[in-house]
Amino acid sequence: MEITGKTKVCGIIGDPVLHSMSPVMQNAAFKAAGLDYVYVAFAVSSESLDQCATSVRTFQIRGLNVTVPHKVGVMETLDDVDPLAMHIGAVNTIVNTDGRLVGYNTDGPGFMRALEEAGLHVAGKKIVMLGAGGAARAVAYSVAEAGAHLTILNRSVERAEALAHEVSGTRDEHVGYAPLEHACLREKLAAADVLVNTTSVGMSPDIESTPCPAELLREDLCVCDIVYHPLRTRLLTEAEAAGATTIGGAEMLIHQGARAFELWTGVAAPVDAMRRAVMERLAGAAG
Ligand code: ATR
Repeated sequence: MEITGKTKVCGIIGDPVLHSMSPVMQNAAFKAAGLDYVYVAFAVSSESLDQCATSVRTFQIRGLNVTVPHKVGVMETLDDVDPLAMHIGAVNTIVNTDGRLVGYNTDGPGFMRALEEAGLHVAGKKIVMLGAGGAARAVAYSVAEAGAHLTILNRSVERAEALAHEVSGTRDEHVGYAPLEHACLREKLAAADVLVNTTSVGMSPDIESTPCPAELLREDLCVCDIVYHPLRTRLLTEAEAAGATTIGGAEMLIHQGARAFELWTGVAAPVDAMRRAVMERLAGAAG
């Protein structure tokens, strides 16, 4: 599509942003939807983050994605933050409506959509989540809000405990926690319906690592990995071999982007076109 004087601008801020998948994915989405938008990457240092909101207003940028290391710091520069993003404590999407900047978190809703698309409805399900970092916060609040019974396992058990208490505090439901150790994994997984890895274990170049031994995986388990490089992590390969349903990290990436697209444009996201763009790029990266 031709860029004209009317073309609306969206983008991503982060440091670094050079290897972000979002420009390829969002430009493919704008094209597929026939929208006169363009999406670019802005490398923004932490020192200049406080000028970002002013710049967005000045240049009338319609929306931004926010990535590492600005997801937390950007919050105080906004006019308002959506309640879910406030709970999660991080913003990954900003919408600029006539100079008023509102922050959202689409990572959690994106993860939920990836589950729903795979036919998994988490209400009443027992979910074991590995990890207690930033990605884990988005997943934890979203699945707890959807009525799942959550247990958090983390290498540093005090982080799992803190997150479990925080999430429990927002609901009647008790959230469990334990150290990420073999015996605990065995016990918690025996009763679980879903296993979600939010740790970086298994991420390229450490592709031989897995956060969960293969012997604990079963066919009646749904296994999700938020790692998307490689596309099929060792965890997912072993889960598949055990006959489990699997959901790869690219699906969460695609659906968080789809939700952001909808917040900026008000149009249903062309998810298939976004998936094609991401898969092409990731398959190329693996080769
Ligand atoms: P993100 O924002 O991507 O979630 P993060 O906040 O740095 O990143 O969190 C990384 C998560 O991966 C944490 O849960 C971390 O465990 P700790 O809290 O104990 O550090 C987990 N993690 C990273 N490397 C790990 C490893 N080798 N074994 C187990 N857990 C690991």
